[in-house]
Amino acid sequence: MKGCFVTFEGIDGAGKSTHVAQSIDWLRARGHEVLATREPGGTELAEALRELLLHRPMSLETELMLVFAARRDHLERRILPALERGAWVVCDRFTDSTWAYQGAGRGAAAERIAWLESWVHGALQPTRTYWFDVEPEVAARRRSGSRASDRFESEDIEFFRRVRDGYRQRAAADPARIVRIDGSGSVDEVREILEEDLARLCSI
Ligand code: TYD
Repeated sequence: MKGCFVTFEGIDGAGKSTHVAQSIDWLRARGHEVLATREPGGTELAEALRELLLHRPMSLETELMLVFAARRDHLERRILPALERGAWVVCDRFTDSTWAYQGAGRGAAAERIAWLESWVHGALQPTRTYWFDVEPEVAARRRSGSRASDRFESEDIEFFRRVRDGYRQRAAADPARIVRIDGSGSVDEVREILEEDLARLCSI
């Protein structure tokens, strides 16, 4: 892999969107080619699957397979070609979301997720993952008042506590890749932390 693969994670309302956009601008301003993308989504097919995932009732099994189907299309058509030509890929959510939401949040078996993960992306993992960590109560307050909730955003606080625990476990298991960002920090504080770390990654 020639390029750098950076992902942003966290429960809904953790405040990652602003920082995803700023990080992309920061990298582009330094002359890097950046593929700015998101999951589920990132291709026409995967965006269509996103609509279904976010708004249609379905079983956990179907949800898990659709998430990975969307991911496979996204990898094949956009992420892998970009990394291959040496571009940066900045992706809003990736497979850590599946471990946190479908796994910890909804109870999908770890063996199933691990099997799908290795089938869909083999040994490929993000170079760096920024996990925006915030109290579920704070995230819920931030979400309220924003547009109509989707199937995930309308889950209760207990669901988001489990999702957060899922992220915590992921971060503990892979501290070299997953960096915890305090989502309650000020925009400027967080921006500085991210720029410092991106600068380090750029020089690798
Ligand atoms: P999100 O990326 O937060 O978009 P927005 O800011 O527009 O709400 O929403 C995508 C939702 O999809 C989010 O609630 C988490 C969920 N999701 C999963 O459950 N599993 C996954 O593997 C991915 C990538 C996302």
